[in-house]
Amino acid sequence: VSVVRRRRCAILGASGYIGQHFARLLAEHPWFEPVVLTSTERSKGRTLGDVWLLPEEIPDTLARARLTTATPRELRRAGIEVAFSALPSGKAGTIETALAKKGIPVFSNASDHRMDRDVPLLVPEVNADHLDLLTARPGGRAAIVNNPNCTAAGLVVGLAPIVPLLDPVRVYVATYQALSGAGVPGVPSLHIADNVVPFIADEEEKVAAESLRMLRSARPRDARPVRMEVVAQCARVAVRDGHLEAVTIEARRRPSLPEIRAAWTGFDPLALWDLPTAPRPPIELRSEPDRPQPLRDRWAGSPRRARGMAVTIGRVRWDPPLLRFFLLSHNAVRGGAGGSVLNAELALRAGWLGHPVGRPPS
Ligand SMILES: NC(=O)c1ccc[n+]([C@@H]2O[C@H](COP(=O)([O-])OP(=O)(O)OC[C@H]3O[C@@H](n4cnc5c(N)ncnc54)[C@H](OP(=O)(O)O)[C@@H]3O)[C@@H](O)[C@H]2O)c1
Repeated sequence: VSVVRRRRCAILGASGYIGQHFARLLAEHPWFEPVVLTSTERSKGRTLGDVWLLPEEIPDTLARARLTTATPRELRRAGIEVAFSALPSGKAGTIETALAKKGIPVFSNASDHRMDRDVPLLVPEVNADHLDLLTARPGGRAAIVNNPNCTAAGLVVGLAPIVPLLDPVRVYVATYQALSGAGVPGVPSLHIADNVVPFIADEEEKVAAESLRMLRSARPRDARPVRMEVVAQCARVAVRDGHLEAVTIEARRRPSLPEIRAAWTGFDPLALWDLPTAPRPPIELRSEPDRPQPLRDRWAGSPRRARGMAVTIGRVRWDPPLLRFFLLSHNAVRGGAGGSVLNAELALRAGWLGHPVGRPPS
């Protein structure tokens, strides 16, 4: 793979939880170079080091970078070629549209554009072909590519290999979601210490709608449509990072348990793409009786750059027609910044951001 040069990129909302994970993942990225970090007036002028709150180390190259409040026009003038958005949902939409109109492609975590017809809602292992939806965007506009809600991001990786085998009627998912999913400052400590809160606003609806959008074909008349429901119940627990999901699938078909396990372990759809942040394999199947656990499995994924990108599955039980298992993924990495970085790598390789890096597989 020949790398031509690193694309100049901006991290929007760099002082927030997802923004800092972007900084961590992009500081030494071979294809993208973060040159502008934005925030609101609240953090403007401070360095990334001043506001850093992750337990992971701050990258040396960005520790002294100053936060700015650059507008889309100023980002254009600064020669920004790609924007990574960690802006709050509700505020992100208009800024992201303005950037796309100025010709700057956006890779976003916010929910504002997730259901737009011309915006791929993308998890590369699951629906890379949805990038074709970009052809429907208005002329002269750059791409907006979204990653899904952090719970749906892990769930669809676990479902993609087994949905064709099981042809589910319904997927029930009950979640145990980490505190960092609520960003900074997040959930007040007196609400969550010694507690579980069985409510996260709009989460159950997003998990259902977004998972189905990704698992369905981008083509309206698919020969094998996904004909299932997703039913979610979501709770916040006092865990720092890593969403645990208890999944029960009601299946129409009866494959054997070894076939189901092989579908997960053999799943490696990005094998030929050579993307730096792609975990290989994307699913780690555990056989211990007490895994996955947030504390032990949140950083699953190799090579090193893809830590936190793999989905861990365990406690698999198959009593037809019910398949039950637990699934864990890092909400801020696979479900957040890492997901967007992987989307940008795929888009670049597939030729959606100007000159592709190397040649995509045919
Ligand atoms: N946390 C997760 O696990 C997760 C997972 C998937 C998706 N998401 C989504 O990712 C986005 C970011 O989430 P987060 O958890 O990182 O939130 P957060 O910690 O609250 O961070 C928000 C960031 O946006 C900045 N900001 C707010 N308005 C801005 C504006 N008009 N222009 C520039 N910067 C602005 C804030 O700057 P100041 O520091 O100056 O206030 C801060 O840096 C949200 O849309 C969220 O839904 C989060």
